[in-house]
Amino acid sequence: MSIAPKKAIVFSDEVLQDPYPMYARLHEEGPVHYLDVGSKWPVWSIVSHAECSSIAKDPRLSAKRAQQMLLSLPLSRQSEFAELARMLGLWLIFMDPPEHTRLRKLLNKGFSAAAVEGLRPQVEAIVDQMLKPLQHGSEVDLMRDFANPMPVRIILEMLGIPQELRDTFVEWSRAIAVFRGNPNRTVEEAHAAQNALIELTEFFRKTVAERRRNKGSDLISLLIDIEEEGEVLTEEELYAQCIALLFAGHETTRNLIGNGMYTLLQHPQQTAELRERPEIIRSAVEELLRYESPVQFTARVLKEDIDVCGQQIRKGWTVLCMLGAANRDPKQFQEPNDLDLKRLNNQHLAFSAGLHFCIGAQLARLEGQIALLNLVQRFPKMKLTGPRPEYAPTFGFRGLKSLAVIM
Ligand code: HEM
Repeated sequence: MSIAPKKAIVFSDEVLQDPYPMYARLHEEGPVHYLDVGSKWPVWSIVSHAECSSIAKDPRLSAKRAQQMLLSLPLSRQSEFAELARMLGLWLIFMDPPEHTRLRKLLNKGFSAAAVEGLRPQVEAIVDQMLKPLQHGSEVDLMRDFANPMPVRIILEMLGIPQELRDTFVEWSRAIAVFRGNPNRTVEEAHAAQNALIELTEFFRKTVAERRRNKGSDLISLLIDIEEEGEVLTEEELYAQCIALLFAGHETTRNLIGNGMYTLLQHPQQTAELRERPEIIRSAVEELLRYESPVQFTARVLKEDIDVCGQQIRKGWTVLCMLGAANRDPKQFQEPNDLDLKRLNNQHLAFSAGLHFCIGAQLARLEGQIALLNLVQRFPKMKLTGPRPEYAPTFGFRGLKSLAVIM
C-alpha cells in the first residue's frame, strides 16, 4: 500500500503557542491525520477522544517506542543514540506486559490512595512555606518562584534525595523533556538528553548503593525491596524507575499549576466563584487538566497492521494519541473550548487510559488542588502583568516559560 498522507499536522511556533485552532480544524476534518516528522516511517496522529481512548487500551499496540523516537534524526546519526534508546526503554512507561504488569503492580504500593493521602500534610506545609515569602502587590514570576520548584521538591522528598540538588535535576529533566516532547527531535536535543540520562544513572547508582545500607520508607527503598524480590527489576531498571519518577513528578505537575493559574487569571469570574466555594476545587482541577493538558500527546507502535477509522496503519509504524486534542473533542465535550470549572462527567484523557494510565494521577491532583486553591485564596488580587506569556518549546509537555504576575 502506498503511504497517502491525508492532512499534515505541523508543530510551528504559532501552533506551539496556541494549538487549539489547529485541533478544532483537525476535528472537523476527521479523527486520523498524517504527521510529517521527516522519517521514512510514517507517523499518524489520532485526535478523537473515542479513538485515543481505545488505542491507548488496545493490546495490538506496543508502548515500547524508545527506538522509534530516534527516527526523526538523520539515519547516519541514529547509531550515536543507542544508549539513549536503551536507557529510556527501561522506563515503566515504555514497557509492555508481562514486565509492565509485574512492575506496575509493585509500584502501585507507593502511589495507593492511602499513600498519597498520607502526603497531604507534607504538600500543604511545602506550599505554605513557599507562598509565605510572596508579598501582596509584588511582581513575581510564578513559574520560577513557585510552579517549577514545588513539585520537584515533593518528588525529591518522596525519593529521599537532598533538596540542594534540585537545580541540577531540573536541568537534566529539561533536556529529557525537550527530546521526548518534540516529534521533530534534533541531534543536539538527543545528545543533551543522552548526557542527562547518563548523569542521572550515575547519580542513582551511588544513591541506591547508599540506600541499600540504610533503607527507609521512601520510594527508592520501595524499589530496592522490589528489586530484591527478584525477577522483576534489574539493577539498571531500578535506576531507570528512579529517573522516570523524578522526571514525571516534576515535568508535568509544574505545568498543571502554571497552565492552571494562567487559565484562572484569564477567567476572573469563575476564579472568584472558586475562591468563594473551595469545594469545587476537585472539578476545577479536572477541568484545568482537560482545558490545558500538561501532556499533549503519547505514542504507541503497532505490533500488527490495523485499521483506524478507515486508515490502514502498518506494523512498526508509530501512532500519536493527541491527548490535548482529544480533550477538546466536540463529540465528547459540550463547548470544548470553553472553561467550565464545574463541568460534570469530565472524562478527560490528561492522564491517558488503559495499562499506562498515570500512576501519579492522585498525587498530581492533590498537589494541583492544594497549590491552586492556596494561590487563589491567599492572593485574591493577583493579576497578569507584562507581555503575553510564552509556552516552552516542548510540544508534548505543554508549559509556560515564565508567568509574570502582580500578587
Ligand atoms: C499533572 C500531572 C501529570 C500528568 C498530566 C501526567 C500524565 C501522564 C500520562 C498522560 C501518562 C501515560 C502516558 C501513556 O499512556 O503512554 C502518564 C504515565 C505515568 N506517570 Fe504521569 N502525569 C502527571 C503526574 C505524574 C506524577 C506526579 C508522577 C509520579 C511521581 C507520574 C508518574 C507517571 C508514571 C511512572 C507513568 C507510567 C505509568 C505506566 O506506564 O504504567 N506522573 N502520566
